[in-house]
Amino acid sequence: MGFLDQIAKQFRGEYAYTPELVLKEMREKGIKIRVRGLTKSFGGLTVLKDLDLDVYDGETLCMLGESASGKTVFLKSLAGIEHPDSGEIYIDEHDVMNAPPRQLYEMRLGLSMQFQQGALFESVSALENVQWPLVMHATVSPQEAEDRAAKDLVSVGLTPDMHWKLPSLLSGGMQKRVALCRAIVERKALILFDEPNAGLDPIKCAAIDNLLLRIKKQFKATLIMNTSELFTAYNLSDRIGIIYRGKIVEIGEPGSIKSSKHPYVDEFTRKSKEFLPQILAYQEELASWEGEKVDDGRRDSEHLGKTTGGF
Ligand SMILES: Nc1ncnc2c1ncn2[C@@H]1O[C@H](COP(=O)(O)OP(=O)(O)O)[C@@H](O)[C@H]1O
Ligand SMILES: [Mg+2]
Repeated sequence: MGFLDQIAKQFRGEYAYTPELVLKEMREKGIKIRVRGLTKSFGGLTVLKDLDLDVYDGETLCMLGESASGKTVFLKSLAGIEHPDSGEIYIDEHDVMNAPPRQLYEMRLGLSMQFQQGALFESVSALENVQWPLVMHATVSPQEAEDRAAKDLVSVGLTPDMHWKLPSLLSGGMQKRVALCRAIVERKALILFDEPNAGLDPIKCAAIDNLLLRIKKQFKATLIMNTSELFTAYNLSDRIGIIYRGKIVEIGEPGSIKSSKHPYVDEFTRKSKEFLPQILAYQEELASWEGEKVDDGRRDSEHLGKTTGGF
């Protein structure tokens, strides 16, 4: 959209944009998303409490926190799906809190999201679920959409015989991986993941982390990921944010959040010390995968199985 068009829409009150001074500061500092004072209650329950956060362009930010701490509500708020009671969310030039539905639709074309519960289409196959965003947005030919979807599915260990099955015929873990593939298939500049590898066995978990690591390195996308998996957080993040009762109580590089005195962070760092040797071994394992061409899912999972099966 041209600049004049943008001004006209703003003037008519149709669209809501990030205030110019804020946008200037965001661009100078390389900030893609700015959140200030975000608050959301359901009835008497306050889920997000005055939450502030800056997300830098191209970073991978893992949000860790106990269950019901507000991680999902926060992620959905970024995508404009959940509507907080007050606060500010700016994603690039979009003022998400005040954007009308049409603008939210345009804003969402720049991002994709993997939902915690999958949210797959039940009446079409796994492959069709994954290729759907490419087909819907007609960014590539139907054949290429199918090829790309199949390749991503294979790289998380879903062999071609699984591709045409309906989601209901796949296990919970497989459905999770299909949902993940659907979120990444377009290689959007901003991808939101809600527990991408929760409940998966370590080998599948490693295959997913590996794919995410490749996306992070090759496409320089901004990734925000809710996770409860310590290994994933440690190995994929540029920063880890700890969310506790609706606020970010600590944020920093994986190695730097240790100094916090917050009881939840303290428990988190104690656990991470316990697992440090495995985390480092896993890090090496993932690093050795960098740049490797993946064209065969069996090879992917076999390789990971050999070296990470000991967890
Ligand atoms: N639509 C909703 N209506 C009522 N309560 C909700 C709704 N969505 C989330 N909650 C509540 O908000 C709290 C935080 O939820 P959520 O963000 O899903 O937590 P997390 O993802 O950290 O486990 C929970 O107590 C949950 O029950
Ligand atoms: Mg959640």
